[in-house]
Amino acid sequence: MGGFDPGLHFARVGGDPVRDAFPARRPVPPWNGRSPVAAEEIGSRWERALSSAPTARKRLAYVHVPFCANHCLFCGFYRSPARPEALDAYASLVIAELDLEASRPGVSGAPVHAVYLGGGTPTALAAGELARLLRALRHRLPLAPDCEITVEGRVLHFDPEKIDACLDAGANRFSIGVQTFDTAVRRHQGRRTSREELVRFLEALRDRERAAIVFDLLIGLPGQTRDVWRRDLETCIELEPDGVDLYALNVFPGTPLHRAIEAGKSEAASPLVEIGSFYAEGVERLMAAGWRQISNSHFARTTRERNLYNLLIKQGADCLAYGAGAGGSLGRLSYSIEPDPERWAAAIEGGSKPLVAMREAGPAQAVHDAIVAGLEQGRLDLARARVPEIERIEPLLAQWHAAGLLEDGGPVLRLTTAGRFWSTNLARALADFLAPAATGASSPLRGAQAFSSLATQRTSA
Ligand SMILES: C[S@@+](CC[C@H](N)C(=O)[O-])C[C@H]1O[C@@H](n2cnc3c(N)ncnc32)[C@H](O)[C@@H]1O
Ligand code: SF4
Repeated sequence: MGGFDPGLHFARVGGDPVRDAFPARRPVPPWNGRSPVAAEEIGSRWERALSSAPTARKRLAYVHVPFCANHCLFCGFYRSPARPEALDAYASLVIAELDLEASRPGVSGAPVHAVYLGGGTPTALAAGELARLLRALRHRLPLAPDCEITVEGRVLHFDPEKIDACLDAGANRFSIGVQTFDTAVRRHQGRRTSREELVRFLEALRDRERAAIVFDLLIGLPGQTRDVWRRDLETCIELEPDGVDLYALNVFPGTPLHRAIEAGKSEAASPLVEIGSFYAEGVERLMAAGWRQISNSHFARTTRERNLYNLLIKQGADCLAYGAGAGGSLGRLSYSIEPDPERWAAAIEGGSKPLVAMREAGPAQAVHDAIVAGLEQGRLDLARARVPEIERIEPLLAQWHAAGLLEDGGPVLRLTTAGRFWSTNLARALADFLAPAATGASSPLRGAQAFSSLATQRTSA
């Protein structure tokens, strides 16, 4: 059984599934099914990966810019303050990092289909630095002609000069962290821009008509009542961006928001039941306005929006990574780059890429990736994903169907809106169940009887 607890995977039957199918959302850890490479072998394994021709799958590149003007209370991604000296040096260092490997077969040997400049806050870099970095990426990496090139940013310190610099250097998509349009809720989280300033900026960006514009909206911020959420949705729809992400707020331990709530200095974040119901309302409202859902969190209004990077990363595509704190994958290896900007910079100046951790995919990785990717898009064909011993999970699928998470009992899983909201719980369950079966060991599933008794316990809980 390997410590596996099937009871964790049963949904509540009889409630409102989007609000209470599970007591908590369960993440799928990014390293699931991968085993660590010993520290002394990381260098040689990396060399070997760079020397090998890439497999023919779609590939990505990610550049991390770890600087932010301030630490927004809710954020679990904050790393470093935006000090001018660090910002000024950063683009040159990333370009030096690109140069270390640009001519190696593992990098140059196959096209890259999507590039993401993420953070932190890439738009904290000066206009000229953003342009230099984007041009270097285009010249040093084998970008496909239809490559999606996204710059992530926030409105603070993002001005027309930087927008032009990014567009002229080839960016074709901006992902803007809006979070909420409500000035009071924003300011409480450390977002200084008011609703009016934000709307003006977004209208001007959209009206250039030169790139896809997508927003991030958070669900569940303290003070984000149902009325605030409805106004957020209406404002988003009125602004007519190309796409939007609806993210359920996680109050990560260690974030300023977590500390503030613990100390009684902040109102609590919304309970999960409310977040689920806000999500369902968001899906319904966007669909009614003619948008289409292209992943569990992502919605597109126009044909220009593809959300390519985010979809491909979920499919387990190779991702060439650059910058302090970036993570990537090449062939069977996943790797993390030194997160401390000073240590990272020292290593790059010394001519080496500072990899601090590496993992190797196990035999179940392809099945795992197919499960995560299928569920992310709301449709998982178990046979096409090469999930072994499908008949052994039929009772689980029937239980999820009864709970309102699946449109029917399989074998092609089609997620309801509730199923989409809880998709990481479903992915985690399938990954936990199926990885041992995929390696040839016996599956932990015990059959229908165990499922029904556990289901009964959960239903009556
Ligand atoms: C890596 S952050 C960078 C965003 C950008 N720097 C900004 O400030 O708008 C990308 C997105 O992650 C989301 N995010 C950050 N903290 C989160 C949390 N605690 N729970 C859920 N989503 C979160 C936000 O919507 C944010 O826009
Ligand atoms: S939300 Fe953006 S700007 Fe704020 S701390 Fe997180 S990454 Fe930095």
